[in-house]
Amino acid sequence: MSEDRTVIKKFPKLLHGGDYNPDQWLDSPEILEEDIRLMKQAHVNCVSLGIFSWAALEPEEGRYEMDWLEAIIGRLYENGIYTILATPTGAMPPWLTAAYPETLQTDENGVHRFPGDRHNFCPSSPVMCEKMRQINEQLSRRFGGNPGVIAWHLSNEYGGNGRQAACHCPHCQEAFRSWLKNRYSDLDALNHAWWTTFWSHIYTDWDQIHSPSPNGENVLHGLILDWKRFVSDQLLDFCKAEIKAVRKYSDLPVTTNMMGFYPPLNYFEWAKELDIISWDCYPDWHSREEEIDVAVRTAAEHSLMRSLRDAPFLLMESTPSLVNWKARNILKKPGMHALSSLQAVAHGSNSVQYFQWRKSRGSCEKFHGAVVDHKNGSDTRVFRDVAALGERLEQLSDRIYPTCNKAKVALVIDWENMWAVSGACAVDNHLQYMDLCMTYFKQLWVRGIDTDIIDMTRSLDNYRLVIAPVNYMYRGDYSERVRQYVKNGGCYVTTYWSGEVDDTDLCFLGSHPLRDVLGIRTEEIDAPAPHEKNHVVYGGIRYDVVGLCALVHAEEATVLAEYQDNFYAGYPALTEHAYGAGTAYYIASQNEEAFLDVFYDRILQRAGVSSDFAGVLPRGVTITKREQEGREPLWFLQNFNNRKAEVPIREPYTDLETGTWYQERIEMEPFSCRILSREPEMALVLNQSVD
Ligand code: GLA
Ligand code: ZN
Repeated sequence: MSEDRTVIKKFPKLLHGGDYNPDQWLDSPEILEEDIRLMKQAHVNCVSLGIFSWAALEPEEGRYEMDWLEAIIGRLYENGIYTILATPTGAMPPWLTAAYPETLQTDENGVHRFPGDRHNFCPSSPVMCEKMRQINEQLSRRFGGNPGVIAWHLSNEYGGNGRQAACHCPHCQEAFRSWLKNRYSDLDALNHAWWTTFWSHIYTDWDQIHSPSPNGENVLHGLILDWKRFVSDQLLDFCKAEIKAVRKYSDLPVTTNMMGFYPPLNYFEWAKELDIISWDCYPDWHSREEEIDVAVRTAAEHSLMRSLRDAPFLLMESTPSLVNWKARNILKKPGMHALSSLQAVAHGSNSVQYFQWRKSRGSCEKFHGAVVDHKNGSDTRVFRDVAALGERLEQLSDRIYPTCNKAKVALVIDWENMWAVSGACAVDNHLQYMDLCMTYFKQLWVRGIDTDIIDMTRSLDNYRLVIAPVNYMYRGDYSERVRQYVKNGGCYVTTYWSGEVDDTDLCFLGSHPLRDVLGIRTEEIDAPAPHEKNHVVYGGIRYDVVGLCALVHAEEATVLAEYQDNFYAGYPALTEHAYGAGTAYYIASQNEEAFLDVFYDRILQRAGVSSDFAGVLPRGVTITKREQEGREPLWFLQNFNNRKAEVPIREPYTDLETGTWYQERIEMEPFSCRILSREPEMALVLNQSVD
C-alpha cells in the first residue's frame, strides 16, 4: 500500500498565491474587491492570512475583533480561494509590549529591546506564552472549522534575522539552567563535558551559569554549543505551545515557514513537530555572471525541505520580482519567475506562494516585490508572469502526484556540526561550512542526480552513496552507524576536518573514530596562505588545492592521489579503503572543482548510481526527477543559462504541457523549464509534433 502523502487533504491541489495583508486596506473595500478579481485573473487559489494581524485581531487586551477576518476568508472561499491561517505572534502590538515589557527580548549584551519591529518576543516569558495561548485559541475556536481554512501557519520565520533567535533575559537564563539540569543531571557531568578545568571555570552552583555573551562567557565551547541547542529547543517549545493552542478546536495540519539552512534552528528537530514543511526562498538570482551556484544552493535547500519529513513540502514565500532587503535588489529576468518556481515543484513542492500579494503603501516593505504593484493593476510584466505560471500550475495540478522521491544519494549536513565547526577556534576561523557542502552537492546537481540532505541522526541504510563533507563533530552513535553502513556494502565519502570532536565538543583521543573504516591515520591540518600554491595529482592530472589541507597517513587504504608540493609532497590527498562489503573514501584537501568532477565519476560508478535521464546535460542545465508512484516519473528539465540550450537525448520524451514529442534533442529557451514524461499519453495537449 502506498503511503498517502497529500500535503493538504482539504485542498489537494498545487497551491498558488501568497501572503495577503487585507488588514492594511480595511478602510478601502474597493481594493479588497479588486484583490479578489485580480486573484482569480492570476489563478490564485490560496493565500496566507493574518501573519501580522495581532493588533487588528485583538485591538486591546482581551477584546477580540475577528469579524473582518471571517468576512474576508468567506469572500475568498466563495471565489475558490483557500486560506492558510497564521497565528499572529510574528509581531507584537504596542499595547502588549507596553503592558508587559518582559515579552520583549534581552540581547546578548543584556540590553532589553525597545518595543516595535517583529520577531523579537521572549519565548520563555510566561506572559507572552499566555497571551499567545489566548489569541491562538480564539483563532482556533473561530476558524478551525471554517470551510475556507485549510492549514495553520504558525507565527512567522521563528528566529527572525538570526540575532533574534536568542533571548538572554532572566526567564531565559532560568530556562537554560533547567535545560542543562535535564541534560546533565549533575554539575560534575556538566563540568566534565564543558572541560571547565580550562581557565578555572569550574561551576559549583547551577546559578553561576550564564548564557554566552561577547561581554562575558565566550570561551567554553561546550557551553556555547549547549546554548545553541537550547535556543533552538526553547523556541521549538514555544512553537509546540502554539500548536497545542490552535489544536484546541481544530485538527488542521500545522506548518511554519522555515528559512533553508537557517543556522539558529535545528530544522531536523523542528520537522518532527510539524505536519507540513514549508519554507521561504529568496535566492540571489542574477547576482553573478552565471546562475549555477545560486541554482545549486537553492536546489539543495529544496532538497532539504523534502528530506526533513521525506514528504512533499510547500514553497510558502518567494518574490514575484525583487526583494528590498539585499544590498542590491535585482529583478527576475524574463523566464526566471517560472523557472525558479518550477524548480521548487521539481524538488517536491506542492505550491508556489509569494511574499506578497499586494505592496503595502507604507513602511519598510513598500518597495518589496508583489504580484500587485502600487500602480497599473494587472497590466504589468510581473502580474502577467504570475498569471501565466498560475495557469500552468492549474493544468499540472492533477498530473503531479503527492509522492516523494527516494534518493539513492545522501549528503550529510548537520546543524549541530555547523554550530561546532563554525566556532571551533581552529585551523580556519572563516571556514564556510555551507559553501563547502555545496561544492559536494553541485557535482550531483550537474549530473541530475537526486540527493537527500540528512543529519547525523538519520538512517544511512537506504542510500547507496553517503557523502559527508567536513563532519567535524560526530554525534552520538554516528561513527558506529557509518561503520555498519560501510560494512554492509555502503559507499561512504568523507573529508578533511572530520571526526575531531564528540557531541559535547570534546576532542577524540587516540585516533580518528573511523580510522579502521577509512584505513588512515590523521595527523595535522593546515590552512595555507593564499600565495602558497599546492597541488594534488590524481589520475596523472594536477589539480589546484584551494583550501584546507590535512596531512594523513595511509594505513590499510589505497592512495589514489598525492600532494605534489612543499613539505607535504607525497602525503596522500585521496584514499580509498575496502571495508567489509563497502568502500570508504577520504579527501584530504579542498581542491578545485575539476578534481571532484573526476572523483565523482569514480564513486558514482562504484556505488552504482547514475541519473536515469537518457540525455546529456549541457553546462547550466539540470534535470530533476519527481517520482510518481505507479507511473513514469516526471522530469523537470531546467535551463539556468541566459541563452538557449540544446539537450541531446537517447530516448524519446514528451513535453507534458505542449505535447511535443522529442526524439533526438530538446531545445530550451533561456531561463526555462520543461516538464517531460516518457508516457506520451500523459501530455496535457494533444497537438503532438515530432522534432
Ligand atoms: C520574510 C518574511 C516576510 C517578508 C519577506 C520579505 O520572508 O516572512 O514577512 O518580510 O521576508 O522578503
Ligand atoms: Zn527571554
